[in-house]
Amino acid sequence: MINVPEHIKALRPYTPGKPIEELERELGIKNPIKLASNENPIGPSPAAVRAITAGLKKTLNRYPDGNGYYLKNALAKKLSKNPPFPPFNKGGQREITYNITPENIILGNGSNELLDIAARAFLAPGDEAIMAHPSFVVYAMAVQAAGGKAIQSPLRDYRHDLDAMLSAVTPKTKMLFIANPNNPTGTMNTKGEFDRLMRKIRDGILVVVDEAYYEYVNDTRYADSFKHFRAGRDILILRTFSKIYGLAGLRIGYGIARQDIITEMNKVRAPFNTNSVAQKAAIEALKDKGHIKKSREINNKGKKYLYKELSSLGISYAPTEANFIYIPAAGSMDIYKKLLYDGVIVRPTGPDAIRVTIGLPEENKKFIKAMKTVMRNQ
Ligand SMILES: Cc1ncc(COP(=O)(O)O)c(C=O)c1O
Repeated sequence: MINVPEHIKALRPYTPGKPIEELERELGIKNPIKLASNENPIGPSPAAVRAITAGLKKTLNRYPDGNGYYLKNALAKKLSKNPPFPPFNKGGQREITYNITPENIILGNGSNELLDIAARAFLAPGDEAIMAHPSFVVYAMAVQAAGGKAIQSPLRDYRHDLDAMLSAVTPKTKMLFIANPNNPTGTMNTKGEFDRLMRKIRDGILVVVDEAYYEYVNDTRYADSFKHFRAGRDILILRTFSKIYGLAGLRIGYGIARQDIITEMNKVRAPFNTNSVAQKAAIEALKDKGHIKKSREINNKGKKYLYKELSSLGISYAPTEANFIYIPAAGSMDIYKKLLYDGVIVRPTGPDAIRVTIGLPEENKKFIKAMKTVMRNQ
């Protein structure tokens, strides 16, 4: 018998959104739609796809650049020149030089891997890390796998209650995770709220701001995490190519932090954690502003449609700044299963809510039609 440490035994594996092929296999349902993993329904930038196919023959027999030189440089240039906040907001563009260098950047096999790397780099057994609940479940898993203790602080009105999170700080606290916007609720924290947290939190606690969905944000009050990075604070900002960039299958994300923080994270990173195909695609995806604009437009239109239809069905939801909508609903597993039979995959998030990704117009329609059937038969 292998002696498995208690903190590993207690872990529950992550349950991903149900893959389309699995539903086809299990229920024999033809052409189901997946609105379960907050993927971009229009797919990746065509330029990213071209870069992948063009590079395949030349590079597959070689190890990737473990340091991701070209992608890090492209990111540093983009993030330094373009104000990262407010994101893509007309009229709000300010000329700011952020001075982000490649040494401030770490690449990950999805931002998910960076969560793991950060927990392993900065937590010793028994250290505490604070996160909201419900929030992205990987925070608690990464902390526990690293031997740390996850302290969960309830949301308030579906949003991170940053004051409550602050009051959960103890002498053992080493990390604090904030998903902004939050998954599964899609809510965000404002600049004022976040600045207040950063004013009050003591140095030595790494604030991990997970901005996986930041490109979808419309609200100009959105928190400016980069301001605190520039001020030299203990902050790690995470971004991903899995969401608006439509490259979830390639597994690539990045983190931005002070150089000394990145240096420690690099010590626990696998040498070739991001592959050459993903690096190439990400560089092209970054350049394709048209793809991002189109993705945002489709999301905003879909959001408006779903709000209207859900309201007319008397279904309440949390207003979202991301590409998914949180719907509090008792018996969520039952609703989820019924939707599956109608060929619609959503995500039950606990016993009393489902989360639906905003899809293409026809997918949103199919979801609403299926919801109507579910409600009629309840
Ligand atoms: C808030 C949040 N952070 C991080 C991730 C992980 O994304 P990836 O590992 O694909 O970059 C997700 C994915 O669903 C997420 O919702």
